Amino acid sequence: MRQLKLSKAFTLMESGPVILVTTHNGNKNNIMTISWTMVLDFTSAFAITTGEWNYSFAALRKNKECVIAIPAVDMLDRVVGIGTCSGADTDKFSKFKLTPVHGKVVKAPLIKECMANIECKVIDIIRKHNIVVLKAVAAYVDFARKEKRTVHAVGDGTFIVDGRKMDRRKMMASKVPEGV
Ligand SMILES: Cc1cc2nc3c(=O)[nH]c(=O)nc-3n(C[C@H](O)[C@H](O)[C@H](O)COP(=O)(O)O)c2cc1C
Repeated sequence: MRQLKLSKAFTLMESGPVILVTTHNGNKNNIMTISWTMVLDFTSAFAITTGEWNYSFAALRKNKECVIAIPAVDMLDRVVGIGTCSGADTDKFSKFKLTPVHGKVVKAPLIKECMANIECKVIDIIRKHNIVVLKAVAAYVDFARKEKRTVHAVGDGTFIVDGRKMDRRKMMASKVPEGV
C-alpha cells in the first residue's frame, strides 16, 4: 500500500461502504464489521455507531484508537463472517485468513487484504446515541488491487455492489476542496 494524502482520506468513506474496524486491546487484535458510518467533514472525521454489545467497544473506549479497513466485494463472505462472530472467543485474523500490518500511528493493525486502510483516533463517544467519533491520522490505498468495488449494506442481509462511476467534478468544483 502507498500512503494517501490525509486530506483525501474522507473520499474512502464518503460513498458509505461496509467497513471493517480493527482494534488492539493491549493483548490481541480484533475486527468487527460496521455498516452504520458517516463522514463528518473534509478533515476526514467520521462517525460510526457501535457500543457495548460488541467486544471491540471496550478496546475502542480504553485505547481510543482503531483502523478503518475498506474491503472490496471479493471479501464479502469474510466481511459477513467477521460481523457474525465475536473476538471474545475467536481470533478473527486467523479464522478469516487476514494479514495484520503495523500502522504508523496507532496500535490497531491495518488489514493487508483490504483495498484501503485509515488509522484513526477516537475523539469522542456520544453515549446517548452510541456514536463513536473518529479522526483520521493516516491513510493508505492499495492502488495495485484489481477488484476495487465496495459493498453497501441494505440492512436486511442483502448488499449492493458499486456500479458505474460518474464524473461531475466540473459541476462540483465550488464544493470540492483543492487537492481532493
Ligand atoms: C454487514 C454487517 C454490518 C454490521 N454493522 C454494524 C454496525 O454498524 N454497528 C454495530 O455495532 N455492529 C454492526 N455489525 C455487527 C458486528 O460486526 C458484530 O456484532 C461483530 O460480531 C462484533 O464483533 P466483536 O464482538 O468481536 O467486536 C454488523 C455486522 C454485519 C454482518
